Amino acid sequence: MSHDQTEIKNLFEPRSVAVIGASHNSAKIGYKVLENIVRGGFGGKVYPINPKGGEILGVSVKKGWDEIEGSVDVACTCVPSKFAFEAVKAAADHGTKFNLVITSGFSEVGNIEEEKRLTAYATDHGMRILGPNIFGMYSAAASVDATFGPGGIKAGSVAIITQSGALGLAMIGKTAVENIGISALVSVGNKADIDEADLLSYLVDDPNTRSILMYIEGVRDGHHLVEVLTEVTPKKPVVVIKSGRSARGAMAAASHTGSLAGSDAVFDAIMRQCGVLRAESIEEAFNLCKFLSDTSVPRGENTVIVTNGGGIGVLATDACEKYNVKLFDDHEQLHEVFSKATPDFGSTKNPIDLTGGATSADYWEALKAARDHERIDSVLALYCETAVFDADNLKAMIRENSEQFKQAGKPLLFSVFGGAMSEEAVGSLTKERVPVFGDVYETVACLGGLYSYYRHLKDRSETVDEAEIDVAAIEEVIQGARADRRGFLLAHEGQRLMDAAGIALPASTVARTIDEAVAFAEKAGYPVVLKIVSRDILHKSDAGGVALDLENRDEVVDAYQAIMRSCRERVPDARITGIEVSEMVRAGVELIVGARRDASFGPIVMFGLGGIYVEVMKDVTFRAVPLNRAEAIEMMKEIRAYPLLLGVRGEERKDIPCVVDTIIRLATIIRKCEGISDIEVNPLVVYEQGQGARAVDVRVMLSSAEGGRSHA
Ligand code: COA
Repeated sequence: MSHDQTEIKNLFEPRSVAVIGASHNSAKIGYKVLENIVRGGFGGKVYPINPKGGEILGVSVKKGWDEIEGSVDVACTCVPSKFAFEAVKAAADHGTKFNLVITSGFSEVGNIEEEKRLTAYATDHGMRILGPNIFGMYSAAASVDATFGPGGIKAGSVAIITQSGALGLAMIGKTAVENIGISALVSVGNKADIDEADLLSYLVDDPNTRSILMYIEGVRDGHHLVEVLTEVTPKKPVVVIKSGRSARGAMAAASHTGSLAGSDAVFDAIMRQCGVLRAESIEEAFNLCKFLSDTSVPRGENTVIVTNGGGIGVLATDACEKYNVKLFDDHEQLHEVFSKATPDFGSTKNPIDLTGGATSADYWEALKAARDHERIDSVLALYCETAVFDADNLKAMIRENSEQFKQAGKPLLFSVFGGAMSEEAVGSLTKERVPVFGDVYETVACLGGLYSYYRHLKDRSETVDEAEIDVAAIEEVIQGARADRRGFLLAHEGQRLMDAAGIALPASTVARTIDEAVAFAEKAGYPVVLKIVSRDILHKSDAGGVALDLENRDEVVDAYQAIMRSCRERVPDARITGIEVSEMVRAGVELIVGARRDASFGPIVMFGLGGIYVEVMKDVTFRAVPLNRAEAIEMMKEIRAYPLLLGVRGEERKDIPCVVDTIIRLATIIRKCEGISDIEVNPLVVYEQGQGARAVDVRVMLSSAEGGRSHA
């Protein structure tokens, strides 16, 4: 356990808690926090602090810190913002380890300086701040409810970290209704000091926590978050809901918490890279957390749908496609397993249709067959309410099969649809933590989440792939541009950088004679392009200085002579260096590959469909750096244009390994060359397998001297 983790243990497992501003007035937050601590069964020492002294809830009130012996693990600050600094200072001076600053009125309303002052004092005196602007925290490990929530939190296995206070408080109520037990609930508010990553470093090894839900509005130190999540997800599933998805949402989030919502596409892709499941709604997040904390990870991906209705079976099949749940399709095996439970007019193709006449006994039989079959890994059981079904047995059938599947380590999820009887069954079984839902899509979304997690566990690799690049040569290029007081590279500097990074550009040379031009063209291969090189001829085409698509030796000779003649005629005094001969870029698939330093996630790479419509298509994806080849391949599979790389309409497969290599090379540049802030190759034209790719255009921006991006 690292020093940080040992330290953070004191937050989740305090031996003493102080409430600064513990009020005698039961309507006040300072009273409520104390009440929850006292009534929540906390076993450690409790110190209400209020200059008035006296007694609250039977606990003697301290008039000041001097009445408290020894240091306190956790203090909760519940005094108005104008008194908060003094309160925090007094706690820090007394050696308090953590301070939950519940008080609002700091960076979220523009009072940034006061927040900084308070945090700096705490940090300098070895005290860590949670908040400010929080509702507090609950930890099952110490039975401590230091929140001003409704109380009565049920201990359990789901940990919740939330940046929204109101939502967090509402979650307390919601978890009570749904009978979701909580291992920890932490409000992070303005995240002046402690952030999600600090909390995860405790939760990762907390035996009470089996799944983690995070509500995030903005990420500050994304790089650290990625590091920690990479350690957490192999051990426990993490589900995240991030607001600020739409442009309007992002603005609201920024003004709400004072933190900037990062680019959603970057966040989304990087969370996937870390194996974090992203939920669209709070409902979905709860469903996933509850399900994942109770279910074992399946052994494989063969899912079977058992239904008593054809229509709902088709709906579930569609949902499986949407949520990437793979249906077992070995028809022979399926027939063998399910023919006994299925009438002749039913279907043993997946979905297994027991038909509308199915009884609980038929479900029992089909589910038992699925449970016992070694090639079936998970089951979706759908039930539409019918008059022929023996309704009295519904709940028992669901409950008992659920239990047996749990014992067998196979996921089984039910979707029950119908009238009052069905609704009641869903409601009461949910409270018993049986995975049963009313809506088919909700059911399949849960299984889809489990399978994303399963694939992350199976496919993740800690290998980092790096390319060999000539860092010294790149640094030299950067220094040259800096000496010129530029924050960006010129075209020829960009080309030198590409050479140093081993990324292929269209081959070119400056020929000074016809023989040199022909020799290069023969070596590079036809067709080629010829262009005049002269500092005095800016508009090359106007001067007759360009010839495209030259197919053979004779055409090169003729074009060379024609260019020289024309340029000398039209710009008589021009100083001519020679003629540039370049390989003519053939048509291929135009991609974009980029790398940059993201404000919250640090170095990241981007890949997508390139060309001039990048902005319109937005068919791009991102990854945090470092990454490995497998991850680069995943990036390719994520974009909509991926089939173009596989070859459509009789075209050959494109050189995917070369594109992977280019992504890894850009990732290596951004990781090793601090001086570069953005680098973008667009288009990277990729050819058929084995024929490589060409970086046709490259743009490079340099970091400013302070480390940020400099604007050209
Ligand atoms: N040390 C100890 N106690 C102090 C104190 C100090 N330095 N200064 C004041 N107090 C006492 C007061 O005397 C009072 O006790 P009393 O009621 O017995 O007289 C108590 O602390 C509270 O002070 P008060 O001035 O009554 O404040 P309040 O309760 O109206 O508001 C907050 C305090 C923190 C609740 C309020 O400022 C706030 O920030 N509310 C928003 C909280 C919030 O929404 N957080 C985010 C949730 S997501």
